[in-house]
Amino acid sequence: MHEFIAGLPKAELHVHLEGTLEPEHCLALAQRNGIPLEHKTPEALIRSYDFCDLPSFLKVYYSGIRVLVTELDFFELAFRYFQRAASDGVVYVEAFFDPQAHTVRGIPFEVMMNGIHRAQCEARAVLGLESNLILCFLRDQSAESAAEHLAMSVPFREWIVGVGLDSDEKNNPPSKFVTVFADAHAQGYKLTMHCDVNQMNTLDHIRECLDLIKVDRIDHGLNCLEDEQLCNALVERGIGLTICPVSNRFVVQSLTSDAIRTMLRKGIKVTVNSDDPAYFRAYINENLMALIDEAGFTKEEIKQLMTNAFEIAWLPDARKARYLQQLEQYAAKYAITDFC
Ligand code: HPA
Ligand code: ZN
Repeated sequence: MHEFIAGLPKAELHVHLEGTLEPEHCLALAQRNGIPLEHKTPEALIRSYDFCDLPSFLKVYYSGIRVLVTELDFFELAFRYFQRAASDGVVYVEAFFDPQAHTVRGIPFEVMMNGIHRAQCEARAVLGLESNLILCFLRDQSAESAAEHLAMSVPFREWIVGVGLDSDEKNNPPSKFVTVFADAHAQGYKLTMHCDVNQMNTLDHIRECLDLIKVDRIDHGLNCLEDEQLCNALVERGIGLTICPVSNRFVVQSLTSDAIRTMLRKGIKVTVNSDDPAYFRAYINENLMALIDEAGFTKEEIKQLMTNAFEIAWLPDARKARYLQQLEQYAAKYAITDFC
């Protein structure tokens, strides 16, 4: 199974670039930029990753972000993740980034964009890895701030495929951002939003995503299983869910493998991703292996998860078809039948 997972052509659709900041790199950047950190060794940093819910995770995540200052820092952050992804057999990435977490510290929007974009170009040229960016608004900031950052993105429109919504969900429903998401849609951006697992009013949030915002995808969204109508709507509209099992284990103490399996059976376009792999200590292959080792997922189920990922990717149809063909050819080597 390790060999099968390692060689499987993969798409990752839910990874926060800032969540790929490895402890060693965090310490090196802190030193280079003269930023004091409470923890002085990678081991001590990792020991501080003792989150048990979304707010406690976000506290650690935003603390790490402070070391990212220069264009080179953003380049290194993104390129190191792309190297790791490529060596894990990922062929296509849609990566989130959180501009408001940087501009608030006085980092110009273009510094961040130029660093990340250069890493994308180099990853394409050197690693053969294709990627797109999703600009995430912080839902615990104001709608006005989101609108200002959407405006800042205009000169970089060609470098960004869609917009998302992350950070602390409590009392920050999708409806708060209806105008800015409508504007983003009018500018041609694809739309997604986090509906983190077991959050307050999560079913209302998922409904707002579908009916008010009219998202193209939902990040997490696993609680949809509590409502048959929501499940049917997701299937009928072909809306994908980007699930992150190891992340779920940190914030809701469960790998959520039963839910993933149920969604597969219902025909929901569910996918498996890493979310913040440096913090959860698991990249995409470790997430897939956790489902195999701990929940007995079969090659057929894994292949279906990956088929879903390429199908819901924000790529032109011809590119998707090419990746899906690559996946089929790989699956044929393992004599994998279709999942049903
Ligand atoms: N949920 C919400 N906000 C986030 C996450 C997440 O999983 N990762 C980084 N910011
Ligand atoms: Zn996330």
